[in-house]
Amino acid sequence: MSTEETPPYGSGASTSSTASGAAPIKRIRTHHLREMKQRGEKFAMLTAYEQYAAQTFDEAGIEVLLVGDSASNNVFGNETSLPVTVDELIPLVRAVTRSARRALVVADLPFGSYQASPEQAYLTAVRFMKEANAHAVKLEGGVEMAPQVRKLTEGGIPVMAHIGFTPQSEHNLGGYRVQGRGDAAAKVVAEARAMEESGAFAVVMEMVPGAVAAEVTTAVSIPTIGIGAGVECDGQVLVWQDAFGLRTGRMPRFVKQYADLHGVLLQAARDYAADVKAGTFPTPDHTF
Ligand code: KIV
Repeated sequence: MSTEETPPYGSGASTSSTASGAAPIKRIRTHHLREMKQRGEKFAMLTAYEQYAAQTFDEAGIEVLLVGDSASNNVFGNETSLPVTVDELIPLVRAVTRSARRALVVADLPFGSYQASPEQAYLTAVRFMKEANAHAVKLEGGVEMAPQVRKLTEGGIPVMAHIGFTPQSEHNLGGYRVQGRGDAAAKVVAEARAMEESGAFAVVMEMVPGAVAAEVTTAVSIPTIGIGAGVECDGQVLVWQDAFGLRTGRMPRFVKQYADLHGVLLQAARDYAADVKAGTFPTPDHTF
């Protein structure tokens, strides 16, 4: 990775020191992801919506944390990502940027907060940058979002694009469907190219056939990040409650579950309740 100068004016933006006073931790920047792609080195991205998950994933070396609009259905209890608002997401982004010392933190622009015009997109993105210290924003859509991406990047805001299946358009797309099969493959490639040309620093591809995602990954110089798009993407992203089993029930085919956090929490809560009811908690050790 290229070297970064010490920031001027006493800014703490690019490095943070460890508790032990050991070597400072270097913040992942958008150019680091591009350099990783050039080296053929893959990177990992996870969603995060609050302090402890953000700290843990950061400590684990996850390069990118996305405060997704999936907070709508993973934090706020909605059925889809559509209802969540900018005002609801900003405190979550602020919590994650305060907690992650190394990861690049990307704020998702929610449905209705950027589609109307490039100016609307810019004003919304500025709120995430100024009020929540986001390092970048993400927006959904392909060629039709090129003016928005250009306006943001020209205004100093790094943009991650999101193409293929775009959950904010689920009603328009007729539900959760793989995008880019057959003749539609060319459209996915064109969308990725349009995002690169408009200045996006990376592009998420959701539910796209693996062969199409592989073609996109070689067609563009910006990193591709897959979710249900096969192993050839430069990086991968998952919603953490899916990946670590806090959410239960039927999962999309692209999810691999690495833990059963629901089971762990359920048992812990049952053990606690049983102790309270039996009078075995608190003990003298827990009593002043
Ligand atoms: O909001 C989100 O979590 C996302 C990822 C699934 C890419 O957009």
